Amino acid sequence: MIGRLNHVAIAVPDLAAASALYRETLAATVSEPVDQPDHGVTTVFVDLPNTRIELLGVLGDQSPIAAFLDRHPAGGMHHVCYEVDDIRAARDRIVSAGGRIIGDGEPRTGAHGKPVLFLHPKDFCGTLIELEEA
Ligand code: CO
Repeated sequence: MIGRLNHVAIAVPDLAAASALYRETLAATVSEPVDQPDHGVTTVFVDLPNTRIELLGVLGDQSPIAAFLDRHPAGGMHHVCYEVDDIRAARDRIVSAGGRIIGDGEPRTGAHGKPVLFLHPKDFCGTLIELEEA
């Protein structure tokens, strides 16, 4: 059911510093920052030959990554994103197997303008998983 690894997301306390680190020290192709007010984050994408890294910075007072950064002040791996062909079929399969979806279970529009869902990390090996309909 799950397909390609779309991206690995890293939450960072300083998005400009993280962008410079990837652009200059690691010599990667790094996008400009894009505010995602619906998600409480600012995103920067690092293009790699086989996948992307999503750098996540706090946006606003209600950012979902603020508590994570309190626990990981230097930043840390936040989630992995797998592609699926049909996000509602994927959700139904996961729910019927006892897996929990975060929120109301309805897909939202993610950072790439495509439907996404997040799966509860306690049901998936301690890893927050984003599913994106590719
Ligand atoms: Co993501």
